[in-house]
Amino acid sequence: MVIIRGATTVDADDKEEIRRSVRELLEQIENVNQLKRDEIVSIVFSSTSDIHSYYPAKAAREAGFAGCSLFSAMEPEIEGGLPLCIRAMLFVEKNLVPRHVYLRGAKVLRKDITSIINVAIDGPAGSGKSTVAKRIAHEMNILYLDTGAMYRACALKALAEGADIENETALQDIFRTMKLDIAYENGVQKTILDGRDVSEEIRLPHVSMAASTVSKHPSVRVHMVEKQREIAQKMSCVLDGRDIGTFVLPDADFKFFLTASPEVRAKRRYDELVAGGHEVDFEALKADIVRRDEQDMKRDFAPLKQAEDAILIDTSDMTVDEVVALVKRKMQEKI
Ligand code: DC
Repeated sequence: MVIIRGATTVDADDKEEIRRSVRELLEQIENVNQLKRDEIVSIVFSSTSDIHSYYPAKAAREAGFAGCSLFSAMEPEIEGGLPLCIRAMLFVEKNLVPRHVYLRGAKVLRKDITSIINVAIDGPAGSGKSTVAKRIAHEMNILYLDTGAMYRACALKALAEGADIENETALQDIFRTMKLDIAYENGVQKTILDGRDVSEEIRLPHVSMAASTVSKHPSVRVHMVEKQREIAQKMSCVLDGRDIGTFVLPDADFKFFLTASPEVRAKRRYDELVAGGHEVDFEALKADIVRRDEQDMKRDFAPLKQAEDAILIDTSDMTVDEVVALVKRKMQEKI
């Protein structure tokens, strides 16, 4: 049995705010610890005595944590204590090193156990960044955030609406009503567009090219970057993309820039698509990748670029294991 701690503050003693905060806290604890819901045996909550509007345990049950035993208690009133705070203790049936989660105002409570680590892995398509980012996140037991998936979802939406993807104003109208959620299922990122899981669909080649086009518009990027920063501020994660080290998280603790020859990168994507049962023309795919690189590098706003303090790794002649080992070694050297 492992015990995971967590806490959050609420903005107000209000039923909906308590429900939202409890859900957010529990989902984040689940995500960073890559928990399955049935691995949680019990959750004990305590809330400060200025919270009267709702039981955290009830909020947890309503948030889908109904399979474990839940209990709420009220803390004594301590002078100088953090107000409007809900604490949680999760008893978990899993062999893991627990990662405790302190959100919002509660971050100040336990700086010792909540230091957030952000790893930025940038590079062009097929450089191996997502495979490596996933492995590193898994080994560090932290979240993996595929930022490309977010631009791909925007592209899918624009294509489905028959929009001119070069026209930023037209896209703004579409994206204003779009609902994009990043969820995690057993530690695997799911991209949910307007309530539909589009994780597979966004990988198709025509969506890749359109993603590159929609992502050059500043208004699209600003919106996506806001979401990415919000996630990275709250929890340790490995983010892969084009502009993580330069723009999204210029203060990331570790920065890598992966690259490989266009030939090798095209071959990797080709193999992936063929393995997924798709019929693809290798030369066309390679030409697309080169065109996408050009567009991603040449856009004005937050282009694909190596951050000055990022470590460059050419993965052309390396296996995934070799790249992962090198990334880990470089991180170890920096610690
Ligand atoms: O990483 P990917 O191939 O899934 O990304 C698809 C496109 O999205 C890519 O061609 C450019 C854009 N993108 C971006 O501009 N910034 C990011 N951080 C990630 C992706």
